[in-house]
Amino acid sequence: MRTLVTGGSGFLGSHLVELLEARGHDVTVPRSADYDLTRADDAERLFDDAQPDLVFHVAALAGGINANRVAPGRFWYANLLMGAFVLEQSRVHGVEKLVMLGTICEYPKFAPVPFHEDDLWNGFPEETNAPYGIAKKAHLVGGQAYRDQYGLDVVHLLPVNLYGPRDNFDLETSHVIPALIRKMTAGEKRVTLWGDGSPTREFLFVEDAARGIAVAGERYEGREPVNLGSGAEISIRDLAELIADLTGFDGEIEWDTTKPNGQPRRQLDVSRARQLFGFEATTSLRDGLERTIAWYRANAAATAV
Ligand SMILES: NC(=O)c1ccc[n+]([C@@H]2O[C@H](COP(=O)([O-])OP(=O)(O)OC[C@H]3O[C@@H](n4cnc5c(N)ncnc54)[C@H](OP(=O)(O)O)[C@@H]3O)[C@@H](O)[C@H]2O)c1
Repeated sequence: MRTLVTGGSGFLGSHLVELLEARGHDVTVPRSADYDLTRADDAERLFDDAQPDLVFHVAALAGGINANRVAPGRFWYANLLMGAFVLEQSRVHGVEKLVMLGTICEYPKFAPVPFHEDDLWNGFPEETNAPYGIAKKAHLVGGQAYRDQYGLDVVHLLPVNLYGPRDNFDLETSHVIPALIRKMTAGEKRVTLWGDGSPTREFLFVEDAARGIAVAGERYEGREPVNLGSGAEISIRDLAELIADLTGFDGEIEWDTTKPNGQPRRQLDVSRARQLFGFEATTSLRDGLERTIAWYRANAAATAV
């Protein structure tokens, strides 16, 4: 099976590539310096060169709440175009299946918790990451339209917030878990966090996510979007205390309530993935955090930005 993984050099993509290679796939991993997927001609050249049977579209311009606030236009434009070009080239090159990575940011701000896939269209997403979320939501509609018109097998997955080894620890662009680990291992007496700590989030260990995506690529052929999560909800305050405990941080945790909280609650209904392709997360948050912290301690010098 000739398999193309766009974004295969990134955090999630690198774990997915390792897993696919272990399962016997012949994997191509393009780099953005060679193939800028926001350009139609580069996307065409990539598919000409790789001639894939199976495509996982993992490439994205992604980041935490700050990155989304600073560059909403670029997040919308880059993500919209990359997905559109990969979808079109998958059609032109007759790929057998395209798996597109969506995001929990596609959900309405006030979707009933736990988020069920049937509620995706019942409201506008949380404002700070709406440009990113809506660009990816357009891929869901595009994938279904290409399935209907051209018979292209396009699968759309909605992963919750991910964490694990090789995550992005750059404080300008990182998500909450790597930011907390970095701040709490820096020897500071005080760590200041955005918001009031009340919002809840769900986290999925990156190796579990990679397994869910690989299995969906092998076993799922449907048009309906599917959540990928752990189903476990935790407040940012409890998360901060857990990471403080696991890193041995004994300083003060301060909450900057002039900064936004982001979406009030996030937790996924994970039953569809279990029913349709038997996926369940197996790594507990504590175990996953311990592995992430151990990886960061071993690689901190290399990842510090
Ligand atoms: N991380 C999360 O918590 C999370 C949660 C839900 C969904 N997701 C989704 O999962 C996917 C992977 O996220 P991630 O956190 O692993 O991202 P990441 O580490 O930032 O990796 C991004 C990848 O996209 C590639 N890329 C970026 N711009 C590109 C361009 N213009 N042309 C070609 N390739 C480009 C990068 O390639 P180069 O290194 O060569 O530049 C890199 O391999 C994304 O689709 C994201 O939306 C992530």
